[in-house]
Amino acid sequence: MYAIQAEQLARTFKPDIHAVAGIDLAIEPGKVFGFLGQNGSGKTTTVRMLTTLLRPTGGWARVAGFDVTSNGGAVRQRIGVALQEAGLDEVQTGRELLTLHAQLFGMGRRQARERAEELLAIVDLTEAADRRVAGYSGGMQRRLDLAAALVHHPEILFLDEPTTGLDPISREAIWRYVADLNRQGVTVFLTTQYLEEADRLAGEVAIMDAGTIVAQGSPEELKASIGTDVVTVRPAGHDGVALKAAETLRRLEGSPEVRVVGDSVVVYIPEGARAIAPIVLLLTESGIEITDITLARPTLDDVFLRKTGHHIEATPTGAHA
Ligand SMILES: Nc1ncnc2c1ncn2[C@@H]1O[C@H](COP(=O)(O)OP(=O)(O)OP(=O)(O)O)[C@@H](O)[C@H]1O
Ligand SMILES: [Mg+2]
Repeated sequence: MYAIQAEQLARTFKPDIHAVAGIDLAIEPGKVFGFLGQNGSGKTTTVRMLTTLLRPTGGWARVAGFDVTSNGGAVRQRIGVALQEAGLDEVQTGRELLTLHAQLFGMGRRQARERAEELLAIVDLTEAADRRVAGYSGGMQRRLDLAAALVHHPEILFLDEPTTGLDPISREAIWRYVADLNRQGVTVFLTTQYLEEADRLAGEVAIMDAGTIVAQGSPEELKASIGTDVVTVRPAGHDGVALKAAETLRRLEGSPEVRVVGDSVVVYIPEGARAIAPIVLLLTESGIEITDITLARPTLDDVFLRKTGHHIEATPTGAHA
């Protein structure tokens, strides 16, 4: 049985917005699944359907084996959700909030307090436990939000952009908790605009663009699917020189794919090490000086660029930004 399965799952908003335009998912239990996409690509809409907060307008989805539409209650018992817009009550302290959450899940007062204590330790908030949430930093609020999603020991955890807008240290902390939870067997569905986050945490990744999945597989498979090395050249000089360099490099043997990205030129070419000399020669012959040239294996960013035609731009949105 899959932890999360969907076929042709879709959600249309009036008048004519195809937020999610028919996606298929088959996620095995125990995995971290990274759902990558830029602003407006349909990540949150997908999460809201999978967590029973929004009805699909097409297709179906099962979470923990239960249909999200006809058996929402059974789904909700087995999942934890930390939404993009944190729903924390800021007047409470962290401890009060977690204790209340535990009581809402049917625990007695004493058991709820014990669970709150455990969770505060997991997300390193024990010391701040008795301060009001209003005074927490963005990173602390995200950690508390994560703890709140864990109260009832969910099998499957949905995290919608858990680190957007956080500083690198807070981000590392969240990554550590997610990896720990996954080691304990929790399946994690994580949306993100950060390629590095998907690369670090996820065993499998789907790239969303305008409501559809344009690529899916392990980060290694996706990078290998590019089938070439990546040579990046930064030509010296005036505006427009990158365009001219790109024109020139398209004449290389085998007519490689060449893209202009900012003031650099990216060449997708097999056996990149052998291509360096011809690249330098061709540019020099055309009177173009080179400031910098690097050879790399493809990254998820290259996969994203290849599949969508644009870079992923992490533009934080929402209350936590
Ligand atoms: N309730 C709604 N009514 C109308 N349109 C909506 C609604 N919710 C989402 N949309 C639209 O659906 C599309 C996908 O939105 P969604 O929030 O799923 O994207 P996202 O990938 O989560 O983006 P972000 O990275 O900014 O959070 C957008 O065009 C958005 O404007
Ligand atoms: Mg979103």
